Amino acid sequence: MIYQGNAVSVQLLDDGIAELKFDLQGESVNKFDRATLEDLSKATEALKGNDQVKGIVVTSAKNVFIVGADITEFTEMFAQDEAEIAKWSRQANDIFNAFEDLDVPKVAAINGFALGGGLEMCLACEFRVMSEQAQVGFPEVKLGIYPGFGGTVRAPRLMGVDNAIEWISAGGQHKPEKAFKDGMVDAVVKHDDVRDAAIDLVKQCLAGKIDFRAKRQEKLEPLPMPPMEQMMAFQTGSAMVQQQAGKNYPAPMEAVKSMQKAAGMKRDEALDVESKGFAKVAKTPQATAMVGLFLADQQVKKVNGKTAKASREIKNAAVLGAGIMGGGIAFQSALKGTPIVMKDIADKALDLGMNEASKLLAKRVSKGKMDAAKMGKTLSMIRPTLSYGDFTNIDVVVEAVVENPKIKQSVLAETEEKVDGAVLASNTSTISITRLAEALKKPENFGGMHFFNPVHMMPLVEVIRGEKTSDETVATLVKYAQKMGKNPVVVNDCPGFLVNRVLFPYFAGFGMLVRDGADFQQVDKVMQKFGWPMGPAYLLDVVGIDTGVHAAEVMAEGFPDRMQHDFKDPSEIMFENERYGQKNGIGFYKYEEDKKGKPKKVVDEKTYELIKPMVTGESKEFDADDIIARMMIPMCTETIRCLEDNIVGSAAEADMAMIYGIGFPPFRGGPLRYIDSIGTKAFAELCDKYAHLGKLYEAPQMLKDKAAKGEAFFA
Ligand SMILES: NC(=O)c1ccc[n+]([C@@H]2O[C@H](COP(=O)([O-])OP(=O)(O)OC[C@H]3O[C@@H](n4cnc5c(N)ncnc54)[C@H](O)[C@@H]3O)[C@@H](O)[C@H]2O)c1
Repeated sequence: MIYQGNAVSVQLLDDGIAELKFDLQGESVNKFDRATLEDLSKATEALKGNDQVKGIVVTSAKNVFIVGADITEFTEMFAQDEAEIAKWSRQANDIFNAFEDLDVPKVAAINGFALGGGLEMCLACEFRVMSEQAQVGFPEVKLGIYPGFGGTVRAPRLMGVDNAIEWISAGGQHKPEKAFKDGMVDAVVKHDDVRDAAIDLVKQCLAGKIDFRAKRQEKLEPLPMPPMEQMMAFQTGSAMVQQQAGKNYPAPMEAVKSMQKAAGMKRDEALDVESKGFAKVAKTPQATAMVGLFLADQQVKKVNGKTAKASREIKNAAVLGAGIMGGGIAFQSALKGTPIVMKDIADKALDLGMNEASKLLAKRVSKGKMDAAKMGKTLSMIRPTLSYGDFTNIDVVVEAVVENPKIKQSVLAETEEKVDGAVLASNTSTISITRLAEALKKPENFGGMHFFNPVHMMPLVEVIRGEKTSDETVATLVKYAQKMGKNPVVVNDCPGFLVNRVLFPYFAGFGMLVRDGADFQQVDKVMQKFGWPMGPAYLLDVVGIDTGVHAAEVMAEGFPDRMQHDFKDPSEIMFENERYGQKNGIGFYKYEEDKKGKPKKVVDEKTYELIKPMVTGESKEFDADDIIARMMIPMCTETIRCLEDNIVGSAAEADMAMIYGIGFPPFRGGPLRYIDSIGTKAFAELCDKYAHLGKLYEAPQMLKDKAAKGEAFFA
């Protein structure tokens, strides 16, 4: 043994070839935490001083190669000042350089995921051999940063500027075929052969068949491109990245800028550029929010993992209703491997549900994501039926019939009689789970499972605990959501549950802005620029004006002190004029079909005429910050109230639910992290400034307390 550390070992094999193996003790994956970096440094020192070593293979003892840096270390590290962060990145780069500078051929055997720092480790070798089952990529931009262990320097020198820009700025994870085509790896082999193939490549270098020094030299030199060509490549790349990433995500553009700035430099100087740029992006609010989001996601997964332990086994499911939601639930359940019976009272609805599922599957087949055999198998896992005769051995039933409490209660009570002790759930969006449970003999076996439309696209499922719902029922619903590939968040029962309770105050903010003279199109534009996938008027059109008005009524009844209004809301006016939004081609906007047959929104001047009588303020252009404050404060204060009322268990779960459920701008990290980015004290002051608009704008007690103590929602 040449070296043995906690994460890295080096052993001499035959023929003077050393195996440097990553195997982080006590963890299921390899990652580059500070200790692993130090270990690599010591292993390199040991290799340097050993004349027996003629070549090196880099391997992993885990199923993955190396998944990247240890993100749990980022929060503390990024809290340092820019110069300190740059110093850290530069020191890490010295370790990679020392390894790269070992004057022997080095080959990485990529057996599984090699991401971020893991891939940068591979780039410090002269060659890379990849398993057919592995995947590689630079996901750093998804955390608001860019590669900081030499990736922006070595990638363009090895694979060309165009490819490096694409790989680094889009943050994709790539399969072997693409990795080979783009020049990221030198060979792709069968999974079991990856280590032997890497050793063989070292031997070929040692036999003089391959000039490994020339390969290394390419990485040490400036980019071998004439200036004119270089300029063209970076100009095209920048334009593409600017367009794709947009202004709210600065890291991809900064990566391109660093690559361009360092293009004419040798390795060490180029790495200084990378480290400085890395430190700059690490200090952006986007990086804080997106690293926070990653950690929140981990936390939610951990909480769910614990909750799901008490789950019953789920082999077979059923769904009541084959409409938009029931059909979607059946499709998703089958797609992810849980057979499902789909019951409706109308033959036609069953046909529609099955047709929709086969359309979605056919799309997958045409995109090459699925073969015809798997499509057939998936479809056969959905069993349409008009009777309860097929409800034997069902473990979970999701009710998704029309939104009417009486019908739902009667359907649920009927189902309870037909299934022996199965867990029941309702996909209601507005009816109390506790109230629906009143119709059941065993209310403990019943909870809410609130999916979002379209089911196959939306990642969130709210699992709702009614007053009598048992822990086992909650666990089973969490488990079923996970089996369907969704992210569940458990919440307690209240009007609107978590997501709609927080979303409707935002719509209330919109109504008040229009009442006070704001142009709904200006509000849409400002909020989209803020980072929402669409503005509030457009969102209401997509959700359905009728659905929105009904839900707003439920919310007003549930929270009359702050959600009732004494003026006619613009959505109500649209509703009265039978403008239901996209579903009937007209709402705030008018919808025409584009070339692909998708609805395209166009301005309809009549909307202004209809709204006019409700506008009491003077019509004027509002300041963008004013619009943002008036839209975001109600959403944020209501999120805090959900924490105060124990509707949701933690700040992390609240934020993740809003990101997964309604597309809260991820780079702002969720409502509570958004408050943190402003500061609890400053946000409480902002609430005071707008408190004259009503209770939705008043600072809740929890915010006041945190502001007084100088605390944040996230430590
Ligand atoms: N559409 C959405 O965006 C959305 C989002 C979240 C939740 N939800 C909720 O999901 C539920 C279903 O909504 P949808 O949009 O799919 O409605 P939908 O009208 O498209 O489908 C309802 C289906 O239920 C069937 N049905 C009626 N009575 C039945 C019974 N006794 N047994 C079996 N089937 C019966 C109808 O034939 C119809 O096919 C509602 O509670 C709704 O509030 C809807």
